[in-house]
Parts: sequence; C-alpha cells; structure tokens
Amino acid sequence: MPTPIITLKHVSRTFRVKRHLIKAVDDVSLSIGEGEIVCLVGESGCGKTTTGKMIAGLLAPSAGTIEFCDQAINQMARAAFRKYRLGVQMVHQDPYASLNPTQTIYDIIAAPLRHHKFTRAGADTRARARELLTLVDMTPPDDFLDKFPHQLSGGQRQRVSIARALTVNPSFIVADEAVSMVDVSIRIGLLNLLTRFRDQLGMSFLFITHDLALAKFFAWEGRIGVMYLGRLVELAPARDLIARPQHPYTQVLLSALPEADPQVTRNKPRIELRSMDVPSLMRLPTGCAFHPRCSKFIGNVCERVVPELTAAHGAHVACHLIKPGP
Ligand SMILES: Nc1ncnc2c1ncn2[C@@H]1O[C@H](COP(=O)(O)OP(=O)(O)O)[C@@H](O)[C@H]1O
Ligand SMILES: [Mg+2]
Repeated sequence: MPTPIITLKHVSRTFRVKRHLIKAVDDVSLSIGEGEIVCLVGESGCGKTTTGKMIAGLLAPSAGTIEFCDQAINQMARAAFRKYRLGVQMVHQDPYASLNPTQTIYDIIAAPLRHHKFTRAGADTRARARELLTLVDMTPPDDFLDKFPHQLSGGQRQRVSIARALTVNPSFIVADEAVSMVDVSIRIGLLNLLTRFRDQLGMSFLFITHDLALAKFFAWEGRIGVMYLGRLVELAPARDLIARPQHPYTQVLLSALPEADPQVTRNKPRIELRSMDVPSLMRLPTGCAFHPRCSKFIGNVCERVVPELTAAHGAHVACHLIKPGP
C-alpha cells in the first residue's frame, strides 16, 4: 500500500434544502495513496462533487474526518493547513465558467504564482507561465499567453485550468468531470496528460465522472469507487470491478457500458431494474437505498439494514448478498 495522501474516515455532508436535511455524502471512508488514481463514478446527484470539494478543502464535512498525509485537516496548525490547501487542487467541471473571461491566459496563470510567492519578478513569472503551458502541451506557449479564454478551444481551456492548478505544485488533484465537456478526440489527450503527471511527478488523482467508460479508461491501473445516493457501494481495482462487478448497482452500470464491437453490445444481457426511478435524497429508502430498484432484492434485510462497505474478494462492497472474505 503506498503512503496515504488523503484519507476519509466516515465522512458525511448534509445540506438543508427547503425544510429537509439531505445527506449528500453519507459515511464515506476511503484512502488514496501517493501516485494513485482513484475514480469516483455514479449518477448525477450521488455526491461525487461534494466529496471532491471536501477533499479539496472547499467544503467542510458535517461528520467524520479527512486527513492529509496522516494529519486531520480540522486540527492542523496554520503552516500545515497552508501546505494542505496548496497540496490539493481541484480542476473544475466547466472551464468556460471557471476561467475569468476578462483575463489573459498569462494573468490567469500569473495570479496564483504571485499570490503564493512562487515567483517574484515579472520575468520570472512569465518564464514559469511558459513552462506550465509547455507542460500541458500548449506549445509554443507564446502563442497562447496573451490570448483570452474565448479565443481558445474547449480542450485548450481545459489545459489552461490544469496549468493553473499546477502553479502551486500540488501533490493531489481532484478532477471533477474534467474531460466530460470536451470532444471525445480531445479527451484522450487530456487523460494521457494527467497520467503523465502521475508517472513523472508522482501526483495522485481523484477523478470524478458520471461516465463509467471514462472511469475505466482513466483508472485502469488504479481503483474505481461507485457511489449511489451519497454512499460508496463498491470500491475495487478498476480491472476487477470491470471484470467482476459485485454490487448489483455496479452490474447495472456495466451492463449499460457500450463495447467496442456493436454486435457484442447488442448481445449483452441487460439487467432489468425493478424500478427506473432514482429515489430523492429527501425521501431516501430505508435499509439499502438501492433496494427498490435492485434486481437481486432478497427482502427484509435489504429493506431494513443499511449494508456496510465490507471486504469481499479483493474489493469492498456494501451489499447483503455478498459474502465477506479476503
Ligand atoms: N450547496 C448545496 N446546497 C444544497 N444542496 C446541495 C448543495 N450542493 C449539492 N447539493 C445536493 O447534494 C446532492 C449531491 O450533489 P453533488 O455532490 O453535486 O452530486 P454529483 O456531483 O454526484 O452530481 C444533490 O442532491 C445536490 O442537489
Ligand atoms: Mg458533480
């Protein structure tokens, strides 16, 4: 097991929505090591972004603890907290919204460099900005530095977001739907770029996506965590999760995954759900939240008891059907 960089221990986050308290994230425990890639997947609204924001320190947990390099974030002294805030960076979902349209690419990259005193003189800052653009394959950098975000393509804007995150030399990047907004042809380039940072800079990644096909591609040498209505229901090495999904919900996600060969896709057995409706967080089913839809539903225990994430056959699964074991 590599040295843990980020550890979540029974982390929950509630929000008040109208008069209800909803649990956007419910009792999630997870540890991500140095140089590791973990992908969080699940349908929209299952708590992925909330988890990512808590890890990046942009949102406080309502319960549980998050540790950075074995130190609880909420107990850190100032210097350690600063190190953590710079060490974990989030690349946002939508580079259209997160890049200030009135700033040039140079301004966008120079601001954190200067603010955190990574560079001092203007010439220094410009040289570092060039270096960072080169690192994200925007070459020659001088072609881009004085442009505005609207003059770039979606993929180039996403690269600028990544370069901006790299200004503070992070050891951990949370990439939230970072490649969902761009064309398929550009995605592969971006994914390869992030993988290269892992290999060359030893960076760790939490990659968040609603698309299991992307998770499979990106986390192939890492792990995938599947979330359902705020809870982690399965966590396993990507290859195992794809080859032998254990949780019935993971099996449903996989059965909907297109294969390279359309014939194989057509012949894939489709899993029948008992219900197509995704329950609301305001009226969460009792017991296992997936039970009203689950094709493997076995009655009482599923309706009454919340299944804990338990070690089972090299993975961790939260399902009453799964026999625990190494
Ligand atoms: N600031 C907030 N206030 C109220 N509800 C929120 C807030 N942020 C997220 N939520 C709710 O929490 C749930 C999980 O959201 P989110 O983490 O964004 O899911 P995902 O990224 O998986 O789509 C959703 O029901 C969402 O509406
Ligand atoms: Mg999200």
